[in-house]
Amino acid sequence: MLSALLLWTSMKSLLSPVDLRCENLTSPLAVEGEHPRFSWKLKGEGRDLRQKGYRILVASSKDFLREGKADLWDSGEVSSAEQFGIPYAGSGLGSGKRVWWSVQIQDAGGAPSEWSKPAEFGAGLTGWKADWIGWDAPDGDKPEWHPEIGRVKNPLLLRPASLFRKEFHAARPISRATAYVTALGLVDLHVNGKRVADDLFTPGWTNYDKRVYYRAFDVTSMLHRGENVVGAVLGDGWYSGYVGYGGIRAHYGDRPRLRVQVNVEYADGSSEIIGSGPDWVATSGPTVEQDFLMGEKYDARKERNGWDKPGYKAQGWQPVHKVDGITAEVEPFCGDPVRAYERLKAKKVTEPEPGVYVVDFGQNLAGFAKLNLKDTKPGQLIKLRFAEWLNPDGTLYVKNLRGARATDVYICKGGAAEEWEPRFTFHGFRYCEVTGLAQRPEATTVQAVAISSATPEVGHIETSDPILNRLSANAWWTQKMNFIDIPTDCPQRDERLGWTGDAQAYIRTACSYSDVQAFFQKWLVALDDEQTAEGNFPMVAPTKVAGHDGGPAWADAGTICPWTIYQVYGDKQLLARHYPQMKKFVEFNLARSQAGPLPPKEFHCFGDWVSINADTPKEVIWQAYFAYSTDIVAKAARELGNAEDAKHYAALHEQIKEAFNKAFVSPEGVIQGDTQCCYVLALAFDLLDPKMAKIAADRLIKGIEDRKTHLSTGFVGTRDVMQVLSKIGRNDMAFRLLHNTTFPSWGFEVLNGATSIWERWDGWTPDKGLQDPDMNSFAHYAYGAVMGWVFAEIGGIHALEPGFGKVLIAPQIDPHLTWAKTRYDGIRGLIRCDWKVENGKLHVDVELPPNTSAEIRVPGANAKGDADAIGVPAGGYTSWALGSGRYSFTSDYKS
Ligand code: BGC
Repeated sequence: MLSALLLWTSMKSLLSPVDLRCENLTSPLAVEGEHPRFSWKLKGEGRDLRQKGYRILVASSKDFLREGKADLWDSGEVSSAEQFGIPYAGSGLGSGKRVWWSVQIQDAGGAPSEWSKPAEFGAGLTGWKADWIGWDAPDGDKPEWHPEIGRVKNPLLLRPASLFRKEFHAARPISRATAYVTALGLVDLHVNGKRVADDLFTPGWTNYDKRVYYRAFDVTSMLHRGENVVGAVLGDGWYSGYVGYGGIRAHYGDRPRLRVQVNVEYADGSSEIIGSGPDWVATSGPTVEQDFLMGEKYDARKERNGWDKPGYKAQGWQPVHKVDGITAEVEPFCGDPVRAYERLKAKKVTEPEPGVYVVDFGQNLAGFAKLNLKDTKPGQLIKLRFAEWLNPDGTLYVKNLRGARATDVYICKGGAAEEWEPRFTFHGFRYCEVTGLAQRPEATTVQAVAISSATPEVGHIETSDPILNRLSANAWWTQKMNFIDIPTDCPQRDERLGWTGDAQAYIRTACSYSDVQAFFQKWLVALDDEQTAEGNFPMVAPTKVAGHDGGPAWADAGTICPWTIYQVYGDKQLLARHYPQMKKFVEFNLARSQAGPLPPKEFHCFGDWVSINADTPKEVIWQAYFAYSTDIVAKAARELGNAEDAKHYAALHEQIKEAFNKAFVSPEGVIQGDTQCCYVLALAFDLLDPKMAKIAADRLIKGIEDRKTHLSTGFVGTRDVMQVLSKIGRNDMAFRLLHNTTFPSWGFEVLNGATSIWERWDGWTPDKGLQDPDMNSFAHYAYGAVMGWVFAEIGGIHALEPGFGKVLIAPQIDPHLTWAKTRYDGIRGLIRCDWKVENGKLHVDVELPPNTSAEIRVPGANAKGDADAIGVPAGGYTSWALGSGRYSFTSDYKS
């Protein structure tokens, strides 16, 4: 290390590399392939800080690294500003190898940084030394059913969770141990009496016929010399439980399966592998029913104390059997695990019927309830039911749950104190009904546990308007409620599917709230796994229950989502991985087109889903989205250096546009259907020439004015309407829509008590009450897409280049607000834009991370800044070209 330092100038850099990641994950212990990619962020106080070069050291131990000994790879000094996606180019990593790495960067002036804190990663397993095993848990007792919930094929079949165990002897002191675990089903791994992680629903939902993920955990500190136990609790989950509507269970298989491998390294250099196999034993335990949709039933009297500890007498446990014929690829988990992220106490408790308590948590959420009980009797049965809404009499409104029973039961063992929360279920709820308590619950008797895929929060906007702040909180809650291993439509009813249209409509907004790179890294594989042989993308991924023909705006998730992730995170490898499927999809659409190209004679399309009395012709949506996907493929080809494809698809894009104009736009500029959505699509996707675009802009405004400043748009139209209004120079209209509080509007929902984003504008109205319970969720994120626009326009943060290397900071001053504070901790670090209007002056404060250049536009022709560079007045704003750092600007801007 010393010699390396001497090579570089002795001046220390103001920059330091932080937040090291491998394959876009923090310290993953199993990564795929021989060349995992490294990324880091740069931290540093000061202006115009840049990275000029880097050097990465990779070693087989942390101590080696400390001594500057890179026994696996030394990148050497690389002259490059890259800070993400840098592939490991060292020697073979070997199955399960655990590795440390560190990076030093050189700043623009040539000064080296300190070496970063070492970070760890582990190579994935090449070849398992463990069998798939199974144990056929008996069918549960006839489960209780609630007659008010329909639609499940009777009889309801629910099974207990199974317990597995293996005792083994470690003869020598252990230096390191890694546990690898996967399941067809859901698994909680235990070692010596403890769960190895708080993660939920391991290993996630995939098309289990093709692929299943495994997780890796460091269990060094949990094992010891002598007797040890590895245990697992196995549930049905997506593999063999109820999934989606239709009342069907066992979509992939009837019984869950398990595979565990623990690699133990001894201090003397020897090693041992403990793998699942026929020498493991299994039984059922206290969890007597478990299912995502139906809920969980736990009989604490059936607990097997010490089952996962050494010395337990496994009497009555049965041998497991080895399961052959599982052909799914077993790959390292590449997403974010699901975890509990917040625990909420009761806000209010009511008693609509004697002994029936309804706990209001004041917030709609996805998760479950935790019980903290005192002075219980053996056999006392506590029942928990969940809902998003209440009937007028204060009882739970559960009709919109459709076939989801959403009921948990806890049977007490009896004693001074008992605690419980379920492991293999979740519900979407704000209210929990609890029965069976001896007395009125206290604030903590029933707590709500909110869960989500642990996508790190990166964005926040706060303004002078409490309604807008609540809307923002609602979108973020709804995102968390629906990012549960995959992006779902809703968390409460018998659906919870990876609806492609919803995901594509919301993905850009999702990126503003949290770092979803790894989350989508996983889901995009699921989406590709479901592409048909012809090239179509599905309605839902993984594809079960709903079909393989997504139709326009749904299937297009296959092009839009990888492109968006590339835009935000600059991940070229991800784009390259999905490019062939994106292209295949466009080819599929072309092959089924009529001459023109124009929409096929017959095709499936959901239309502008849940719009308000405004039917946009399906052909218009088809053609617009075909153009959009083709444009994306042309641009993706260009980014990937495929000039030939870029040219080809750009030409096809022109043809599709031309055909759109001929077939659907009248000489007067009226688009067939004449809905707001029609004009939004044509303008968002640049389908019109300037003259027609002007007419379309006018017709869109007229369409909004005709409805007294209200939208009629559904999922498809709402996705882009606000961006389009900005594009046509009508932010004034966008702001009016944003702050509208009459039906239908975002503000209307907030004023009517929404704590999440509703599926439908008219989920509840004063005139009609609740919408049809067959489709009325209060937690769908599609309409939350407006917040992406708020981050970009009011927050003023735009990426001008994939990966935010170049940004535009251009806050739009919303006259309804006096201030807005926006933060976005992107792939390169924190971007901040705060503005306030005070005494006739506009103040704008901006912060940019290192390795970023920005154009900053401050409203007002004569804005002044504390930056050295000189602002250039242009069309109503003054603009600066600046690098990293903090800057303040003022102008005489008048709203
Ligand atoms: C889902 C949606 C989805 C739609 C497709 C609904 O049942 O909840 O959000 O996009 O079906 O039309």
